[in-house]
Amino acid sequence: MTSPTSQSAAATLHVQSPEQTEWWRHAVIYQIYPRSFADGDGDGMGDLPGITSRLDHLAQLGVDAIWLSPFYRSPQNDAGYDVADYRDIDPLFGTLEDADELIDTAHSLGIRVVVDLVPNHTSDQHAWFRAALAAGPGSPERERYMFREGAGPDGAQPPNNWESLFGGPAWTRVREREDAPGSSWAEDGQWYLNLFDTSQPDLNWENPEVHREFDDILRFWLDRGVDGFRVDVAHGMIKAEGLPDWSGHVEMVSGAAEAADAPGDNPGMPPYFDQDGVHEIYRHWRTILDEYSGDRMLVAEAWVDPLERLARYVRADEMHQAFNFAFLTQPWEASALRATIAESYAVNDSVSAPTTWVLSNHDVVRHASRMGFAEATNSGPNKGIGPQDPQPDRALGLRRARAASLLMLGLPGSAYLYQGDELALPEHTTLPAESRQDPTFFRTDGEERGRDGCRVPIPWEAGAPAYGFSSTGKSWLPQPDDWDDYAVSSQRGDAGSTLELHRQALRLRREYGLGTASLADEPQLAGAGGVLALVSSDPAGERADVLLMANTGSEPVELPAGWTVVLSSAADAAAGSSSGADGVVVPADTTVWAVRG
Ligand code: NOJ
Repeated sequence: MTSPTSQSAAATLHVQSPEQTEWWRHAVIYQIYPRSFADGDGDGMGDLPGITSRLDHLAQLGVDAIWLSPFYRSPQNDAGYDVADYRDIDPLFGTLEDADELIDTAHSLGIRVVVDLVPNHTSDQHAWFRAALAAGPGSPERERYMFREGAGPDGAQPPNNWESLFGGPAWTRVREREDAPGSSWAEDGQWYLNLFDTSQPDLNWENPEVHREFDDILRFWLDRGVDGFRVDVAHGMIKAEGLPDWSGHVEMVSGAAEAADAPGDNPGMPPYFDQDGVHEIYRHWRTILDEYSGDRMLVAEAWVDPLERLARYVRADEMHQAFNFAFLTQPWEASALRATIAESYAVNDSVSAPTTWVLSNHDVVRHASRMGFAEATNSGPNKGIGPQDPQPDRALGLRRARAASLLMLGLPGSAYLYQGDELALPEHTTLPAESRQDPTFFRTDGEERGRDGCRVPIPWEAGAPAYGFSSTGKSWLPQPDDWDDYAVSSQRGDAGSTLELHRQALRLRREYGLGTASLADEPQLAGAGGVLALVSSDPAGERADVLLMANTGSEPVELPAGWTVVLSSAADAAAGSSSGADGVVVPADTTVWAVRG
């Protein structure tokens, strides 16, 4: 048993300015993956009416906003991140009227709505790309994308050596496309850049026409009442001058690079990520959002290292938030977590931006499974897990996921929940190859298992067909057979359930104003191994301090003197009642919230 001792100086991690109260500075935002949230018409694919019908679940949970992954018209080669028409809804998901109804219903429940914007690339079925293929080399239509002549004597080599983040080359030769035979581009020797799938051509953000088009798309959705945009690949739109070769290794999706000498503006990132030119785009977008009433916001999906570079995206005249993937990629280990939390506040506070927190999304292995390995490693969170891989320990993952989520929800700033996090839903780790749909699986010949395991439709009703996801029992990805206990119906009203833990956490977070608090180490535990103990205090001094204490070690740790537990992630340790010989203990892999007294 570790006892409270003062082993190193306690520090202040974050000082909250009492004036900064805009909703996006402290909101809990729930990510809905439309394909997998709720299916209104029984075809096995989630849709907008399905989402609207289930919004009461989110109102009861107590979230401030939802973020919807793409619902736009799309051939769905990358689950909707390949957009063919940014101003229309894919028939799979419904209609524009359904979107209006969803937005209105959410607003009537006090829930804001953030939509996904995919500006780095379009689908190859987008009218612009079809026109670019048809118009041929040298045309203004081709100038909207990244077309280049090939290298080598006959241009048969790609223009540079970049690799797609989904595996394989990042360039496609026009004449080698499947639709080339018999077309006007059958002999066309040009290549186009696709950082992701071949069907996702990168746009040319050096072209003012592209800027104008996206200004208009922003306005289209702002006029429909959305409260903000999650900006996909926000670090990718500008590429380093001259598209220089780069041979470093890139992590799938994230772009986390191994080399530290890349050409371009950030030597630690590939030359197609985090180039300084992207910031002009966001400065301009900010002026558009500022024309609208109601605190509209932009959140950057930017896998950018180091955190100082990421903080540049949230300078006062740019975006409002950026996802903190540094937190997501930490192992469940107190000193690593504390270091990332401290650094995150340091860089974001320096630009007066909120820090965000996220543990799972549709691109990474769910944290209830990531954390279910005894080794406290969290590397490669987006490679996926298949039936032949080592399988996570569910009980361990569940325990740590609850603890990690409770820690996250106590921190000042804005927290993201991915649908199913509130159920501690694990990854589907035994999906058969024939069910997989993620292009990363195919483009790497299965070496990367891909992201399907975190995208499986969520369980609503135990015992019902498709666990109540659809009325017919259809589900676009198969659900595991043993998800009854995770279903909303199984957890609702059960005081020890993860769903009720989240509801309580969100209620107390609001009551104590944890999202807009200042944060410092608890001096009695500063430096103690395996323990993270942070004191959340009200900048206005009007409410009692709250201790956030996470025990990531394998032994119980005594709660420091002067605190009373109000919420615990350990289902077997009800608030305040877990006493050891020396006082209240916090069990291994547990987070508690406690108040003074
Ligand atoms: C990031 C998205 O989250 C991911 O799902 C998608 O595949 C890539 N960007 C490409 O749009």
